[in-house]
Amino acid sequence: MRVGVLTGGGDCPGLNAVIRAIVRKGVQEYGYEFTGFRDGWHGPLEGDTVPLDIPAVRGILPRGGTILGSSRTNPLKAENGVRRVKDNLAKYEVDALIAIGGEDTLGVATALSDEYGVPCVGVPKTIDNDLAATDYTFGFDTAVNIATEAIDRLHTTAESHMRVLVVEVMGRHAGWIALHSGLAGGANAILIPEQRFDLDQVCAWVESRFKIRYAPIVVVAEGAMPKDGDMVLKDQTLDSFGHVRLSGVGEWLAKEIERRTGKEARTTVLGHVQRGGTPSAFDRWLATRFGLHAIDAVRDQDWGKMVALRGTEIVRVPLRDATTQLKTVDPRLYTEAGVFFG
Ligand code: F6P
Repeated sequence: MRVGVLTGGGDCPGLNAVIRAIVRKGVQEYGYEFTGFRDGWHGPLEGDTVPLDIPAVRGILPRGGTILGSSRTNPLKAENGVRRVKDNLAKYEVDALIAIGGEDTLGVATALSDEYGVPCVGVPKTIDNDLAATDYTFGFDTAVNIATEAIDRLHTTAESHMRVLVVEVMGRHAGWIALHSGLAGGANAILIPEQRFDLDQVCAWVESRFKIRYAPIVVVAEGAMPKDGDMVLKDQTLDSFGHVRLSGVGEWLAKEIERRTGKEARTTVLGHVQRGGTPSAFDRWLATRFGLHAIDAVRDQDWGKMVALRGTEIVRVPLRDATTQLKTVDPRLYTEAGVFFG
């Protein structure tokens, strides 16, 4: 048996830990061979491969990024994409594919598996934690830790200057990173994409903090939006690669707070810092367990499935369940956090 492995979409701490676990268990316990496909679905589409064996995965557990590279290439949108993928799998004598990715990457795996008979198993990843059908994705814990440390540091500089500090974190469609890091870091307001925010309310929270000589920290997810009427942001735009670019809600918010309250405000955009570097112990643990269970799914020829965390158990769920809806923040969790606002 030869198994192909690819990592697609935005990178995420823990990808290398998954690859290592798949290869270690696959070689040692099942005698499988592996082919690494470079840069997500670009690899099988163009026949771009890298050797993948035990020496190749040695020492990669604590390393961020992915030794296989990543991209957002979608073979379903390429000319004769499915045919080319199938031809390359045949050419490299690959019997099964493990796709490690988020909604888009796993969406391709779902279609290839369910509609075109390509034997695929999926592993969920995203720092945003917005994939349905799994309690957590690896990368999220690391991102939350990075954001929390940043908020801790921003508290002291905000207090020294009695300024408002706005921290923009990742999360285009879901506010998980904002909610968890905001709670862990003691933010005075947390703004998430799931709930349009009221700028007057945010300014009232900010002012109430100044009354007790306490400099406020506002955590805002990049996809958060003000209620109608307050919207002066440009709409989402596409860059020259066709990727969605958001237009800087953090900067806009700091300017508006300053204008409306007369308090000095600054913005920190954490950006890709949240995605880089070494994974946390939790993410290494989760990624490793996902890898071990993904290769078991291959052994069982359980195609069209994704490994997922349910409580403390790793289970298999239909890939389709993970790619047809997003897991957004439950309004009850957001309401619960509200006791700390203002
Ligand atoms: O992985 C998801 C994510 O981190 C989003 O929160 C963010 O908007 C996006 O990736 C940015 O990705 P890139 O800059 O690689 O296009």
